[in-house]
Amino acid sequence: MDKLLIEGGLPLRGETAISGAKNAALPMLTAALLTAEPVTFTNVPDLNDIGTMLRLLAQMGVVVERQGDTVTLDAAGLDQPVAPYEMVKTMRASILVLGPLVARMGEARVSLPGGCAIGARPVDQHIKGLTAMGAHIAVEQGYVHAKCARLNGARLFTDMVTVTGTENLMMAACLAAGDTVIENAAREPEVVDLANCLVAMGAQISGAGTDVIRIRGVERLHGAVHRIMPDRIETGTYLCAAAATGGEIRLTGTSAAYLDVVVDKLMDAGCEIATERDAIRLKAPQRLTAVSIRTAPYPAFPTDMQAQFMAINAVADGTAIIRETIFENRFMHAVELIRLGADIRIDGNTAFVKGVGQLNGATVMATDLRASAGLVIAGLAARGETLVDRIYHLDRGYESLERKLAALGARVRRVK
Ligand code: EPZ
Repeated sequence: MDKLLIEGGLPLRGETAISGAKNAALPMLTAALLTAEPVTFTNVPDLNDIGTMLRLLAQMGVVVERQGDTVTLDAAGLDQPVAPYEMVKTMRASILVLGPLVARMGEARVSLPGGCAIGARPVDQHIKGLTAMGAHIAVEQGYVHAKCARLNGARLFTDMVTVTGTENLMMAACLAAGDTVIENAAREPEVVDLANCLVAMGAQISGAGTDVIRIRGVERLHGAVHRIMPDRIETGTYLCAAAATGGEIRLTGTSAAYLDVVVDKLMDAGCEIATERDAIRLKAPQRLTAVSIRTAPYPAFPTDMQAQFMAINAVADGTAIIRETIFENRFMHAVELIRLGADIRIDGNTAFVKGVGQLNGATVMATDLRASAGLVIAGLAARGETLVDRIYHLDRGYESLERKLAALGARVRRVK
C-alpha cells in the first residue's frame, strides 16, 4: 500500500497545471452509452476512477481508445448492460451507467454501490426518477434490475439535491418519449458541462445550471467531440495548500469561474487572489485568519472542499466553525489532523477548529478522497515529516499529485 512522505514547513512556490474535472468526466463517459456513434473527450484526467469507469464500459462492449488525455468511446457494439459488483464496489459513480443503459438498451443490471466512508449514500432518488419515467425496477441480491421498452418523459422532483441523481435522470430523459422536467435539480458546473456535451450529441436540454432542467426526448443521439472542464476541486485543493504554507503559486488550465465562494473564503482568510483567463494566482499572508464555512449544494460552499478548509483553519489565527450539511460522516480527517497537533472539537455535523501556531509531522491515515487531500495540506504546513498512509484514495481524484506538488516546491515522495 503506497504512502506519501512529506517534509513540511516549506512555503509552496511555483506553477502547475490543473487537470480535467473528475466529476465532469465520469458522467460524460457514461453519456457515450446513449449513442451508437463514437464520442471523443479531450482534457480527460488520468485518474484511477477514470480507469475504473473505462474498464466498466469496456466489459459492456464499448470500444475504448485512449491517447494521452483524449478518450474515444464507441458504444455501437454495446451488448452487456451489466455493471458487476466487483467493479461498482470500488467506485460509487458507476451508478451513472444506470440511466443511459435503460434509455439505450431498455434494460440494466447495476450493482448497488453500497455505502462508503463518508456516508450511506443511497441511490433511491435515481430509482424513484426512472420509475416515474416508466422503468420497472427491482432491487434484488444487491443489484438494481431495470427494464423498460422506452422511457416516457415525466415531471420529476428529487427529495434532496443530488448531483449524480440529476445527471442520471437527465441522461435517461434525452431518449425518452416526450418532455421531462427535473425540479430541485443540482446546479453544479459539472451538471452544466454534461448538459453541454449531451446537446452537442443532439439532445434538447434547457435550464442546466438552474434547479429546473427541461429535456425534450429525441429518437437517437449522435457522436460529438467535447473538452472536459477544469477540475475546480483540484484547483481549490492546491490553493489551500499554498494558503496553509504561506506560499505563492499560479495554477494554469483552470479558472476561478466556478470557485467564487471558495475564493471569497480564501480572501477572507487573508490571501491575495488574482484571476486570469485560464489561470489563477494566490499569495498567502504570513498567517491565515480563521474562516467559518457551511457546506451546501452549488453555488454554496462545496462539501468536497470541507476537509481542505479544516486543514487550513488548523493553522489559522482564531476559531473556525465548520458545518457539514451534505454527508453524515465527513469529519474523519479531524482525528487524523489532531494527531498532527490540531485543536478540533466535533459536535454532530459541526466542527470547532481552533488554530494552533504550529502542527508537527506524524503518521496519519487517509480514509476518503478529500480527507486525504486535507491531510496532505496539513502535512505540508506541519514541521517535520508526515507520512500519509492509504494514499490510493488520493490517486482516485488527484492526477500526478507528487509531480504537481514538487513543481510547487514541496518535498514529497511516494514510498511503498
Ligand atoms: C457527487 O456525489 C460527487 N461525485 C461527490 O464528489 C460530491 O461530494 C457530491 O456529489 C456532493 O457534491 C460525483 O459527482 C461522481 P449526491 P453524489 O447524490 O452524486 C443523498 C468526490 O470527492 N442522496 O449529490 O453521490 C446523499 O446520501 C466525490 O469527488 C440520497 O439520499 O452525491 C448525500 O447525503 C465525493 N439519495 C446527498 O444526497 C439519492 O438517491 C448528496 O448526494 C442520492 C443522494
